[in-house]
Amino acid sequence: MSGAETQVQADLQRLLPLLDAELVRPFQGGEALRLAEAVRYSLEAGGKRVRPVLCLLAAEAVGGSAAQALPGALALEYVHTYSLIHDDLPAMDDDDLRRGRPTNHKVFGEGHAILAGDALLTEAFGVLAASDLDPIRRAEALTLLAEGAGWRGMAGGQALDLEGEQIKTYDLDHLRLIHRLKTGALLRCSLEIGAVLGGASGAERQALRAYGEAIGLAFQIQDDILDATATDAALGKRTGKDAGRGKITYPSLLGLEGARTALAEATETALCQLAILPNRNSLAAWARYLAQRAK
Ligand code: IPE
Ligand code: IPE
Ligand code: MG
Ligand code: MG
Ligand code: MG
Repeated sequence: MSGAETQVQADLQRLLPLLDAELVRPFQGGEALRLAEAVRYSLEAGGKRVRPVLCLLAAEAVGGSAAQALPGALALEYVHTYSLIHDDLPAMDDDDLRRGRPTNHKVFGEGHAILAGDALLTEAFGVLAASDLDPIRRAEALTLLAEGAGWRGMAGGQALDLEGEQIKTYDLDHLRLIHRLKTGALLRCSLEIGAVLGGASGAERQALRAYGEAIGLAFQIQDDILDATATDAALGKRTGKDAGRGKITYPSLLGLEGARTALAEATETALCQLAILPNRNSLAAWARYLAQRAK
């Protein structure tokens, strides 16, 4: 195990219990039992929990505590899980395997999968709004989440990604824009929400935003590389789908070696942002680990 991976494992061991204790709590009981079941099905399928953990680590990196950032972390995993459920729908990527299980719509039907996404997105804002965070920080976190998830962020990027299936000639700048929005925006706001909830200074917040932006691009480049090189069993989702759907990706545009170079550059950019942070070891390790992750 590399040094980076050892650090990542230690962070996960420490932080996952915090998340797991709270994640499905809002989706117990109630009237719409099958909808709640559909939500829990996707939340409990696992997933790497990259966004919530980075949010908690960002709070710690500026001298705050993970507990302070927990409502933000939960909100981020709700938005992310919703984005995956909708991404897999027939009208989008039309996938049948996610997090090692049949996709949500394969089990619960398209209607319930759409509504499970709606419920998760709504609960993301609900859990933050109902938290006992400092009101100014809470309002900032809500604003950042709206920016990261909405049409100027993830949802907008997903629209460009879909439109991109029809474009046959386009350039790296446009691809970078899609990746920055569909994946980068939520990762960036994970770091920035953690920064705000952890009590960051303006400069620290800016550094974490820039780190999140770079790591977000790197994350999607590696996702593209894994789609072209890994197995369904290793990823818990179908591979080789991007080429099948005619998606433009880093490997399709630059070749695998070119994609790997771009990944290394984005990772380097992320690492360069960390110098001013009091506790930067974990975030440095995560940047290195995510660039070489096998799933
Ligand atoms: C997959 O995200 C979708 C992308 C934005 C690339 P993850 O690779 O973080 O998925 P999970 O949460 O581990 O399932
Ligand atoms: C999805 O990108 C990004 C999201 C916002 C969900 P992909 O479509 O490449 O993600 P996977 O490969 O299906 O996880
Ligand atoms: Mg997609
Ligand atoms: Mg997809
Ligand atoms: Mg992918």
